[in-house]
Amino acid sequence: MPDRSVDAHTRWKTPGAGARATLRAPRSADIARLVALAGDPEVARHLERLPHPYEEVHARTWLTDLERARGREVAFALDDGTGLIGVISFRTLDETPEIGYWLGRRYWGQGIMSEAARLALGRLFETTPASAVTARVSGSNPASLAVLTNTGFRVAEPARAGGTTVGLRLDRADHFRLHDHMNGTAADRAAQKATQR
Ligand SMILES: CC(C)(COP(=O)(O)OP(=O)(O)OC[C@H]1O[C@@H](n2cnc3c(N)ncnc32)[C@H](O)[C@@H]1OP(=O)(O)O)[C@@H](O)C(=O)NCCC(=O)NCCS
Repeated sequence: MPDRSVDAHTRWKTPGAGARATLRAPRSADIARLVALAGDPEVARHLERLPHPYEEVHARTWLTDLERARGREVAFALDDGTGLIGVISFRTLDETPEIGYWLGRRYWGQGIMSEAARLALGRLFETTPASAVTARVSGSNPASLAVLTNTGFRVAEPARAGGTTVGLRLDRADHFRLHDHMNGTAADRAAQKATQR
């Protein structure tokens, strides 16, 4: 019987050259890292749902709420071997799942989230019947827009007049069409981009 529910209780290594992050279930031992990394105003400013300042009570509540929301929401801790370095989550799993993510500031700009998001999306599409995943991002967040386009998302709802939030969507078929290319390393992706120019 195939597993029809996505959960975070399996460890998944990102496939890139250094296998830099593992996706695993968040746990209470992550609380100190959650507070230190998600408490950074540069991380928090793009995350509408993240309380700021972010304190231990918020991390504890998040972990408890995740347990209660099982089946509707799932979150993966990104772990580089030293502990949690970021989070990827999917909300509204019972409708069209929506992805959200953040990474501790010192880990930015190394391709980690593009790799990890691709892996998490693969896990979601392989284990659930979801026909698409959506994302909402501010047009003034180019790094996040790049993560989404790197993983195959396309703009579905451009920002409305006076607003900056862009809606993006990745269809299941597109994920699997891109999958072979996307399983490669950063070097493979760079080569793929070069051939698309
Ligand atoms: C968004 C975030 C997760 C990106 O993580 P990351 O591991 O640094 O992302 P990656 O290295 O995989 O990719 C970043 C891409 O953005 C690009 N980028 C980074 N900063 C940029 C900037 N200021 N302007 C334009 N592009 C930028 C990088 O060049 C890279 O593009 P490429 O793959 O085409 O070369 C991280 O910046 C973060 O946690 N931000 C705060 C929280 C947040 O914004 N979450 C998303 C809410 S929708």
